[in-house]
Amino acid sequence: MKVIAMFSQKGGSGKSTASIHIGVSAAQRYKTAMLDADRQGTLTAWAECRESPEPAVVPATSANIREVLAAAKAEGVEILIVDCPPHIVAGAVELVSVADLVVVPVQPTFPDMKALPQALSVIQAAGKPFVFLVNLVKQKAPETAAAVETLQAVAPVCPTYFHDRRAFSRSLMSGRAATEFNKKEGGAAAEEARQVFSWLMEKL
Ligand SMILES: Nc1ncnc2c1ncn2[C@@H]1O[C@H](COP(=O)(O)OP(=O)(O)OP(=O)(O)O)[C@@H](O)[C@H]1O
Ligand SMILES: [Mg+2]
Repeated sequence: MKVIAMFSQKGGSGKSTASIHIGVSAAQRYKTAMLDADRQGTLTAWAECRESPEPAVVPATSANIREVLAAAKAEGVEILIVDCPPHIVAGAVELVSVADLVVVPVQPTFPDMKALPQALSVIQAAGKPFVFLVNLVKQKAPETAAAVETLQAVAPVCPTYFHDRRAFSRSLMSGRAATEFNKKEGGAAAEEARQVFSWLMEKL
């Protein structure tokens, strides 16, 4: 079983959104589960709107994450995605410590870039490899290239970005992901989700 943790200090950087779109892409090829480790319960609420039971969404805390993980492994889960809470809450290191790879979603904006050192200190304390996923990228925004250059000096950056696309947010409202929309509605977002998941598999 491979464990991917979505982690960032900054609220709204896209941890839950990325978890869902990557998780659904993963579930199309592997037995996949997602742990909702954020008390806001975004993944749990999404799963409640969803018709399909796959990927399973299970609540977890820093106190029980290792037991929940062991149960998922015993059930044959191949890919496990952990959606972490924002801000450096107590137990953040424990959550990140179970990951084989930590994915840090980051918007190429001043507040997100400035908040990075706090997240990186937790990941480094846990001693885990990490990569960046650039999210909410606006078309034709020259600041993206400068942000990516800064990120690349720290850790690998996924070459596919999640652009700011309505399909990423709209699909969640009906318990779906962009890959489950038709081509017209979800096309570009779905392709980004598939590409990001494939790249993450290369890194695992
Ligand atoms: N690529 C994207 N395109 C369009 N909307 C997006 C994208 N990524 C995230 N969003 C929207 O941005 C908002 C914040 O995203 P999300 O909830 O995934 O962030 P988060 O990091 O999980 O936040 P929190 O730290 O509060 O848990 C949501 O309304 C989501 O629908
Ligand atoms: Mg979230």
